[in-house]
Amino acid sequence: MIGNIVRRGVVDSTNEVAKGLVAEAVAPWTVVVAEKQVEGRGRSGRAWVSPRGGLYLSVIVQEDLQRLPMASLTAGVAVVDTLSDQALEATIKWPNDVLIGGAKVAGVLVEGIVGPQTYWAIVGIGVNSDFPLEALPRQIRDNATTLRHELGGRVDNELLLHSLLDSFQSSYPAPGEERSVVARYNEVCSTLGKEVRVETNRGIINGKAVEVGASGFIVLETKNGQKVELAEGSILSEG
Ligand code: BTN
Repeated sequence: MIGNIVRRGVVDSTNEVAKGLVAEAVAPWTVVVAEKQVEGRGRSGRAWVSPRGGLYLSVIVQEDLQRLPMASLTAGVAVVDTLSDQALEATIKWPNDVLIGGAKVAGVLVEGIVGPQTYWAIVGIGVNSDFPLEALPRQIRDNATTLRHELGGRVDNELLLHSLLDSFQSSYPAPGEERSVVARYNEVCSTLGKEVRVETNRGIINGKAVEVGASGFIVLETKNGQKVELAEGSILSEG
């Protein structure tokens, strides 16, 4: 499935480059990879600091808008499984922060767009891979890590790219076959079982994180025993 890999040097954001390719008509499963981003984007309007040595890619997937959460869950699982192949124990903090030892090493930003004939998911993945922790600004560094820092040596981004794409492709579920990737996500999601405080569009919600469903919603059990499903949000604290 993975098709053409479009390689770029310095870009604003690989997701933007991918959107440009969709507008010009592109083959599904085209991948954009850049060496550095100067306007890398994270979730909720945040920036994704993208120095050289990181792995920055966007996979262009033909997908219905309602299946965008599935693309996001699958990308998170693919990153965790790729890292575990390198003996690194990674987990996911809902919705899709990939952590090693509680520090963020990778993130996923999926954007849906309407193309000339169909819908597309731009699956953006950023991994702090082959650069030292000091390359990140001090305020991010406290809660982040890099693969070079964890492994104590250089990282081959080319190998990492290919194993990540293999893992993403092999885990990506056909419609109706979402069960295994959702189960795997629930296995590696470190948010589950914890008392959490979540900032949402509806305000702050507290509860025990119980599970994540195929829609990407997290289910919280509140103090009064009610179950609340959250489609979006940022975890402020995990107990
Ligand atoms: C997050 O954790 O907030 C998501 C970070 C996603 C970063 C990747 S890097 C490749 C792609 N291009 C972007 O501008 N963002 C995503």
